[in-house]
Amino acid sequence: MSSSLSTVTSRRPVTVPAVRSHKVRAGSDPLVMVTAYDAPGARAADAAGVDLILVGDSVAMVVLGYDDTLSVTIDDMAHHTAAVARAKPAALIVGDLPWMSYHVSAADSVRNAATLIRAGAQCVKLEGGTKRIPMIEAIVDAEIPVMGHIGLTPQSMHAMGGFRVQGRESEAALQLVADAKALQHAGCFAIVIEGVPDEVSAMITAALDVPTIGIGAGPRCDGQVLVMHDLLGIEDRLAPKFVRRYADLRSASVEAIAAYAADVRTGAFPSADESYHLTADQAEAMALYGSTS
Ligand code: KIV
Repeated sequence: MSSSLSTVTSRRPVTVPAVRSHKVRAGSDPLVMVTAYDAPGARAADAAGVDLILVGDSVAMVVLGYDDTLSVTIDDMAHHTAAVARAKPAALIVGDLPWMSYHVSAADSVRNAATLIRAGAQCVKLEGGTKRIPMIEAIVDAEIPVMGHIGLTPQSMHAMGGFRVQGRESEAALQLVADAKALQHAGCFAIVIEGVPDEVSAMITAALDVPTIGIGAGPRCDGQVLVMHDLLGIEDRLAPKFVRRYADLRSASVEAIAAYAADVRTGAFPSADESYHLTADQAEAMALYGSTS
């Protein structure tokens, strides 16, 4: 029998230890993670029964209007993490460490991870393989759980020459397996695999005891993550092939705002019911006042 961490009807808080042992091969249902960047988004995700909410640095692109994720700072991420935490979701809140917040020194990385924890995250995520091990060990040593992220790591877009699928050659695929094992050994409780062929993410998933969470990594991971604005169809720019749009909220929003604009212009909004009114006595007193002044 398969098991879910949390359902819409029974919302126990999702914990890091529960996620750490959640493997599909052991009979668990795939983990569900979605991004959220504010309190209404977090409330919607939690009401839908997701297991994890990622306050992703994708906020840079889908909310703040940047072309990539490199412009957001630790203060931006703390601001959005705090907004998500105020919704008090049962889902586990993952705070995404932005570029340059864990690249300079281990001490710096711990301080920045602590900033996201103090903002309300229960764990942090960072991108990269073996070369990030010293930072991961330092953060885990400070009692902050770390989620890894390998494959197409958007913070390395310039080094990778763009947003490109990773691990297509056997050497690169084996390096990804080695990176994933090193991350698990350093203490990561789960690992996101992004933009990697299905066969390779299946190999990585089989090699690990901690769960993998895929995005553009095929169906054989221990879970899936999508950016909320992609799955809701709020993000209207070109979507990668792994995005499935479950709604078209951008079209619904344009339609609703256009209807509002038309009603304002024709005088159909606001109606009498949508306005405040004086009582008859108040109106009479005001008329008297008007006639004597
Ligand atoms: O920032 C983000 O949304 C992410 C996901 C794509 C995994 O890192």
